Amino acid sequence: MGKAESGVLQGEGGVTVRPLAPALGAEVSCGDLRKLDEPAFAAVYRALLDHLVIRIRGQVLSDPELIEFGKRLGELDFAPLAKTGKEKARPHPEIVVVSNVTENGEAIGVLRDAEVVWHSDNSYRERPLSYSALYSLEVPPQGGNTGFANMYLALETLDPALRKRIEGRTLKHDMTYNSAGDLREGFSPVSDVRDAPGPSHPVIRTHPETGYNALYLGRRPNAYINGLSVAESEELLNALWSHATQERFTWHHEWQAGDLLIWDNRCVMHHRDPFDGGYRRVMHRIQCAGDVPALQAQARQQHPRASLPV
Ligand code: OGA
Ligand code: MN
Repeated sequence: MGKAESGVLQGEGGVTVRPLAPALGAEVSCGDLRKLDEPAFAAVYRALLDHLVIRIRGQVLSDPELIEFGKRLGELDFAPLAKTGKEKARPHPEIVVVSNVTENGEAIGVLRDAEVVWHSDNSYRERPLSYSALYSLEVPPQGGNTGFANMYLALETLDPALRKRIEGRTLKHDMTYNSAGDLREGFSPVSDVRDAPGPSHPVIRTHPETGYNALYLGRRPNAYINGLSVAESEELLNALWSHATQERFTWHHEWQAGDLLIWDNRCVMHHRDPFDGGYRRVMHRIQCAGDVPALQAQARQQHPRASLPV
């Protein structure tokens, strides 16, 4: 790749990559995603690993075309727990509809018009997702922006005393509620975080493809750091969360119809602003199966996007 004066990277296959914020995110220009050849796809994939979240604008994709593209990113996952039981059956099992729209009194998708709390997708499963890709069909005139935070950077900048407190620790990820705070189908409310259903994962995980370590917090509600008292766990989690969600680690995307946003759940968290429910917002999401989160002894130090300009 050659670096032009503007900071724009001209990659292989005519793909252009332009960083969008100091912490993470890049605009990828690659033309029609349905026509990407192998070298161009490789450049897009590289941009995703290098910038953690990428935005590709101006796409026109049917559901089968979105699914076809998703298969190039990895093995598609059906995100079975995305269901709340209150929305319509999915026309394509691979596609999760994220929307506030109702048809004949029934929601066509999940997450309504609510604020969506900071989270990493499906951290409450034994094998959380690697990538999620959200494609916008209809967007409100304002609100509903989606923010991302760089968890390589959060780990690299963590106070050493705080880092020591999480080394070797695992965190239990609750599966009871979705990121909009809705109870999932078949679950009952949590009264003690230690009993919340869900797997435990290391608080620091090694990204299986890049080899760098990242902070892995999942989501805040009902999280529990194993082996601590509930009070100690709450105090430690509060300290970690206030560090990890600082504005300087983030980038916020303002949607246009035809945007495809792809993010890497192994090293970013995301958040959505609420929006005026009088407007329609319709997104189609595909997602890829990831690995079981693990910490490797031989992790690399400092991902290239884990340092901020001073
Ligand atoms: C998701 C999600 C945010 C949004 O689909 O996983 O968190 O902007 N969506 O709708
Ligand atoms: Mn999400």
